[in-house]
Amino acid sequence: MANVTIIGAQWGDEGKGKVVDWLASRADIVVRFQGGHNAGHTLVVGNQTYKLSLLPSGLVRGKLGIIGNGVVIDPVALLAEIERVSAQGLKVTPETLRIADNATLILPLHAALDGAREAARGAKKLGTTGRGIGPAYEDKVARRAVRVCDLAEPDSLSTKLDELLLHHNTLLAGLGAPTFAKDKMLRDLLALAPRLLPFAEPVWERLAVAKRDGERILFEGAQAVMLDVDHGTYPFVTSSNTVAGTAASGSGVGPGAVGRVLGIAKAYCTRVGAGPFPTELFDETGQKLGERGHEFGTVTGRKRRCGWFDAALVRQAVKVGGIDGLALTKLDVLDGFDELKIGVGYSINGEIFRHLPAGAAAQAAAEPIFETMKGWEGSTRGAKSWAQLPAQAIKYIKRVEELVEAPVTLLSTSPERDDTILVSDPFAD
Ligand code: GDP
Ligand code: IMO
Ligand code: MG
Repeated sequence: MANVTIIGAQWGDEGKGKVVDWLASRADIVVRFQGGHNAGHTLVVGNQTYKLSLLPSGLVRGKLGIIGNGVVIDPVALLAEIERVSAQGLKVTPETLRIADNATLILPLHAALDGAREAARGAKKLGTTGRGIGPAYEDKVARRAVRVCDLAEPDSLSTKLDELLLHHNTLLAGLGAPTFAKDKMLRDLLALAPRLLPFAEPVWERLAVAKRDGERILFEGAQAVMLDVDHGTYPFVTSSNTVAGTAASGSGVGPGAVGRVLGIAKAYCTRVGAGPFPTELFDETGQKLGERGHEFGTVTGRKRRCGWFDAALVRQAVKVGGIDGLALTKLDVLDGFDELKIGVGYSINGEIFRHLPAGAAAQAAAEPIFETMKGWEGSTRGAKSWAQLPAQAIKYIKRVEELVEAPVTLLSTSPERDDTILVSDPFAD
């Protein structure tokens, strides 16, 4: 039976949470495999709205949630999120959530360093979420990270903190930021240990059993291909790999387990934070997209930058991300526009490109080449079948498919769980 991996195909906030929640009814386990609480996934179920950052979206459907080794976990943020959703009636217990014992922890000093670095960059700041994501991944790669399992070994934890603080306090002092005291850090972590450790286990073992038993796994990506640390608009990216292959390395399964890859893309495009965005709109059309799409960040509340659908960008995400089919979301936001534009390539210093080149200067200079289409009359909002879509909206979808070189296999027409049109089932063999 096929597993399914969901990844973002633009710069994030494409509606991954909604699609994961919708597909989770057909899955047994939902796994987060990268990113951290920089993610903000909004699920609207009847009169309840869930805003999840670290918790796998499948928990809302009562499915087992797993946080894989590739995720960076802020234990304080995780416990706060568990409390927040509990107040909404969603109980999260060690029976419903398992956490990889080898996952890296985000500590308060990571957020401090994230903030101090952004402040030092001034006008050149990346616009990170300030959650310490980058510094935590740096520590992991530098082999000095504190991991979930270390909470069960006070002596190794103490030794690790010595090395960690030597590094971080030097950096923080250099940036003119307050430093951290070891005793308090150790005390705080050991106080968190009994609340976190009941969730911890070698999740690869559980996933291997799930595979043996023919259970369906849904891998829930965070961020998006254009924020991937290798393939994105570097350095305006996040610090993890967001492509589908990461579902394997980030949870401890083989590459075959990734299964069918569904890329999520909005019918237009948004970005939070700094960095190139060739099809960005600075006029009232951009404003209208933002207002109609309620484009404010879930995590930081920042206004999202808005622009036309960039087919060249999504085509690139399809190729490097390993995307088999696209879920096109927020089609309803395009209702009522007389004219729609689709980015089909770039003009960079007089040269034509069908892809976004890797160089930062080239990316910054990229001027979009647009194709114009007529908009549609009538509404797609809340449509639940292909037959309810205006003919011109179908034309738009067909053009998107041609340009991105991938089929649209799912459509979303409102924030509501059930306002979704399935074209072909990603779980089908
Ligand atoms: P994620 O980070 O990819 O999970 O996306 P976010 O949840 O951050 O942002 C997507 C926003 O769009 C959320 O507020 C969703 O409730 C909303 N949304 C998702 N799908 C649709 C859709 O088809 N139409 C409209 N209007 N809103 C949608
Ligand atoms: P979801 O999962 C949109 C952006 C930040 C910033 C850059 C680096 O909700 O789609 P970081 O804190 O990760 O070091 O910030 O990445 N970013 C996101 N933008 N959606 C997200 O997640 C994002 N996670 C990070 O705005 O530009
Ligand atoms: Mg989001």
